[in-house]
Amino acid sequence: MHSNIFSNYPPKDKSNLISLLQEVQNIYGYLPESALMDISEFLDMPLSRIYGVATFYNQFRLKPLGKNIIRVCRGTACHVKGSANLLFALETALNCKAGETTRDKNFTLEVVACIGACSIAPVIVVNDDYYGRATVKDIPRILKKYTASEVSSEKIEEQITSEQ
Ligand code: FES
Repeated sequence: MHSNIFSNYPPKDKSNLISLLQEVQNIYGYLPESALMDISEFLDMPLSRIYGVATFYNQFRLKPLGKNIIRVCRGTACHVKGSANLLFALETALNCKAGETTRDKNFTLEVVACIGACSIAPVIVVNDDYYGRATVKDIPRILKKYTASEVSSEKIEEQITSEQ
């Protein structure tokens, strides 16, 4: 199934595991189980070891990403300016924890270390858009921009307000 990926690699050469995982992830955005099984067969390596490597490195994901990636900076400057509140508001509004993707697959919520924009802390980044000096009150407006249906954006607003 993933033979097009394997054509650049010699079979059973375990030293290529990381490169293969990277290539698969570049194609799919994550590591589908079927691809890991194919890699296991191709490298003649137990699937459990491949999972071990895939879960050890932060760069690899075992689940697909949402359509929009929200990154909440939890570096020191952002922490001091209240990024924990922003994260909590986002988790509440999206009904998912940091590191998870919403059920409708519209958002993935992530926590990141300093993203180099401390002067506008606290910072949230959605895809490539930076929102500096963000407050909990800004969250509904920010999410609304990336939420297709008006109904769900209204819900987000309601949910945040009821948690405050
Ligand atoms: S600590 Fe958040 S941008 Fe630096």
